[in-house]
Amino acid sequence: MRWMKPFLSVLVMTMSLVLTKPILSQAQNPPPREQPNSCVSCHLEDEDLAEPVKAMANDIHAKNGLSCADCHGGDPTAGLDGDADAAMDPTKGYIGVPDRTEIPRFCGRCHSDPEYMRQYNPRLPTDQLNRYKTSIHGKRLARGDEKVATCVDCHGNHGILKANDSRSPVYATNVPKTCARCHADSDYMAEYDIPTTQVEEYENSVHGQALLKRGDTAAPACNDCHGNHGAAPPAVPSVMYVCGQCHVNNSEMFQESPHKEAFAEQDLPECETCHGNHGIKHPKDEMLGVGPESICLECHDEGEKAYEVAAKMYVDIDSLKTAIFRADSLVKIAETAGMEVVDAKFSISDARQFLIKSRTMIHKLSVEDLEKLSKEGMKKAMEAYAMGVAALEELQFRRKGLALSTIFIIILAIGLYLKIRELDQKTQFQEMELGD
Ligand code: HEC
Ligand code: HEC
Ligand code: HEC
Ligand code: HEC
Ligand code: HEC
Ligand code: HEC
Ligand code: HEC
Ligand code: HEC
Ligand code: HEC
Repeated sequence: MRWMKPFLSVLVMTMSLVLTKPILSQAQNPPPREQPNSCVSCHLEDEDLAEPVKAMANDIHAKNGLSCADCHGGDPTAGLDGDADAAMDPTKGYIGVPDRTEIPRFCGRCHSDPEYMRQYNPRLPTDQLNRYKTSIHGKRLARGDEKVATCVDCHGNHGILKANDSRSPVYATNVPKTCARCHADSDYMAEYDIPTTQVEEYENSVHGQALLKRGDTAAPACNDCHGNHGAAPPAVPSVMYVCGQCHVNNSEMFQESPHKEAFAEQDLPECETCHGNHGIKHPKDEMLGVGPESICLECHDEGEKAYEVAAKMYVDIDSLKTAIFRADSLVKIAETAGMEVVDAKFSISDARQFLIKSRTMIHKLSVEDLEKLSKEGMKKAMEAYAMGVAALEELQFRRKGLALSTIFIIILAIGLYLKIRELDQKTQFQEMELGD
C-alpha cells in the first residue's frame, strides 16, 4: 500500500485545512485560522479512526468552524508530534465518547445555551434538551432505558445537517423512515407494550400519501403531531388541538357541537374517535347516515335524536352531490356540442364549494346550519342545470333553423337553375335567328 502514501498525505493536508478553520469554542479569542488540528490530522492517518473525520465533510458544525474538540473536548494544539494522550487529555477537558444516557446533555451543552448559540444563529431555538426531557424518549432514558431515541438517532453524529436540508434525516419527507428504524421493528420494540404499525398505516393514509407520494409538505409527518423533541402520544384533550392546527374549520365546528362535552365526559379523543390517527383515510359521505358504513350507529340507536340527525345530514349532502352530478353531466353534453357554457360552469364550481363547506359543517351536528348551506349549493346546481337545458334548447333551435335554411337554399338553387336554362334557350334561339 506504499503507493497510497502520497494520496493520503494530500488528503490529510486538505482535510486539515477544511476542518481546522477557527475553533470558535466558548473561548473569547478564537485561535487564528488554519492552525493545525491534531485531532484531524492524527485520526486521518489511521483508517479505523478516519471515519468521523470524513463524515464531517458536510456537517453543519464543521461549516461553522467547529471541530472534534468542540464536542469531544481535549487539546487540538497538542499531540501533533504523535502523542495521542497529550491531545486526548481529560485534564484538558477531553470527554471522549459519551455514554448513550449522556448524549442529550452532551449536545445540549451548546444547544441549550442561548448566549452561545446566538453567536452563530440567533433564530435557532434552544429548547431541544428541555423538551426532550419531557418526552417519553427522554423520561425513559433518564431511567436508564438506552433503546429510546437520543439526539444522534434522529440527527446522526458526524455529518449532522440543518433540519431544513432535504438530505437530513429529520427533513419532513425523511422523518417517517427515521422513526421507522425503531418503531416499525417489531423485534427491537418487542419488550414494549405498543404496536409497531404506525409507519405502515401512516404511509397509506391521506397524510402519508400527500407527503411521501406528492411531496406536499403541508401534510403532517410524525413530528407534526408528536412534536420534534417532546415526542409523546398527544394526550386525549390535545389531539384536537394537534389536528386543529391545520384543520381549523373542522375544529371550530366540533367545538360548537354537542359532541364536545359528551366526548370530554367519556375521555374520547375528539377527531381520532371517528377518523383514527395514523391510518386516516379520505372520508366518505356514507360515514354519515344510517347505512352499513355509518360511524354514527356505533354509538347511536334508532329512536334517538342523533339517529334522525345522522339520517338527515346524509340526505342533505347526498342530494347536493347528486344535483351537482346531474348538472355537470348535462353541461358537459352542451359543451361537447360546441355551446357556450362558461356561466353554467361557474355555477357548478360554486355549488361544489358549498358541498365542500357542507362536509366540514357536519362536524357541528346542526341540522339547521347544514340545511342552510346545502340549500345554497342546491340553488347553484339548479341554476347550472337550467343553463345546461337552455344551451341544449338553443342548440336544437339552431339545428331546426339550419334545416329550414337548407330547404330554402335548395328551392332557391332549383329556381336559379331553371332561370339559367330559360336564359340559355333564349340566347340559342337569338343566335339561330342572327345566323339566318
Ligand atoms: C496522535 C494521534 C491522535 C491524536 C492527536 C488524537 N487522537 Fe483521538 N484517537 C487516537 C487513537 C489511536 C484512538 C483509538 C484508541 C483510543 O481509544 O485511545 C483515538 C480515539 C479517539 C476517540 C474515541 C475514543 C473511544 O473511547 O472510543 C475520540 C472521541 C477521539 N479520539 C477524539 C480525539 C480528539 C477530540 C482529538 C483532539 C483533541 C484527538 N482524538 C486527537 C489517536 C489520536
Ligand atoms: C457535533 C458533535 C461532534 C463532533 C463535532 C464530533 N463528534 Fe465524534 N462523536 C460524537 C458523538 C455524539 C459520538 C457518539 C456517537 C454515538 O453514540 O452514536 C461520537 C463518537 C466518536 C467516536 C467513536 C466511534 C464512532 O464513530 O462512534 C470517534 C472515534 C469520534 N467521535 C471521533 C471524532 C473526531 C475525530 C471528530 C472530528 C473530526 C469528531 N468525532 C467530531 C459527537 C461529535
Ligand atoms: C460545541 C457546541 C455544539 C455541540 C456540542 C453541538 N452542537 Fe449542534 N450546532 C452548534 C452550532 C454552533 C450550530 C450551527 C447553528 C446554525 O448555523 O444554525 C449547530 C447546528 C446544529 C444543527 C442544525 C440546526 C439547524 O440549523 O437546523 C443540528 C441538527 C445540531 N446542531 C445537532 C446537534 C447534535 C445532535 C449534537 C450532539 C451530537 C450537537 N448538535 C452538538 C453547536 C453545537
Ligand atoms: C425523535 C427524534 C429527535 C430527537 C431524539 C431529537 N431531535 Fe432534534 N429534531 C428532530 C426533528 C424532526 C427536527 C426538525 C423539525 C423541523 O422540521 O423543523 C429537529 C430539529 C432540531 C434542531 C433544529 C432547530 C429546531 O429546534 O427545530 C436542532 C438544533 C436539534 N433538533 C437538536 C437536537 C438535540 C440537541 C437533541 C437531543 C437533546 C435532539 N435534537 C433530539 C427530531 C429529533
Ligand atoms: C432509536 C430508536 C427510536 C427512534 C429512532 C424513535 N423512537 Fe420513539 N420510542 C422508542 C422507544 C424504545 C420507545 C419506548 C416505548 C414505550 O413507550 O413503551 C419510544 C416511545 C415513543 C413514543 C411514546 C409511545 C408510548 O405511547 O409510550 C412516541 C410517541 C414516539 N416514540 C415517537 C417517535 C417518533 C415520532 C420518532 C421519529 C421522529 C421516534 N419515536 C423515533 C424508540 C425510538
Ligand atoms: C395526524 C397526526 C399523527 C401523525 C402524522 C402520526 N401520529 Fe402517532 N399518534 C397520533 C395520535 C393521535 C396517537 C394516539 C394517542 C392516543 O390515542 O393515546 C398516536 C400514537 C402514537 C404512538 C403510541 C403507540 C400507538 O400506536 O398508540 C407512537 C409510537 C406513534 N404514534 C408514532 C408515530 C410515528 C412513528 C409516526 C410517523 C410514521 C406517527 N406517529 C404519525 C397522531 C399522529
Ligand atoms: C400539519 C398539518 C396537518 C395536521 C397536523 C393534520 N392534518 Fe389532516 N390533512 C392535512 C392536509 C394538508 C391534508 C390534505 C391531504 C391531501 O391533499 O390529500 C389533510 C387531510 C386530512 C383528511 C382527509 C380530507 C379529505 O377530504 O380527504 C382528514 C380526514 C384529516 N386530514 C384529518 C386529520 C386529523 C384527524 C388530524 C389529527 C389527528 C389531522 N388531520 C392532522 C394537514 C394536516
Ligand atoms: C362524530 C364523528 C366525527 C368526528 C368526531 C370528527 N369527524 Fe371529521 N368527518 C366525519 C365524517 C362523517 C366526515 C365525512 C363527511 C362527508 O364526507 O360527508 C368527516 C369529514 C372530515 C374531513 C373532510 C371534509 C372536510 O372538512 O374537508 C376532515 C378534514 C375532517 N373530517 C377532520 C376532522 C377533524 C380535524 C376533527 C376533530 C376536530 C374531526 N374531523 C372530528 C366525522 C367526524
Ligand atoms: C364514539 C361514540 C359516538 C359516535 C361515533 C357518534 N356520537 Fe353522537 N354522541 C355521542 C354521545 C356520547 C353523545 C351525548 C349523549 C347522547 O345524546 O347520546 C352524542 C350526542 C349526539 C348528538 C346530540 C343529541 C341530542 O340529543 O342533542 C347528535 C345530534 C349526535 N350525537 C350526532 C352524531 C352523528 C351524526 C354521528 C355520526 C357522524 C355521531 N353522533 C357519532 C357519541 C357518539
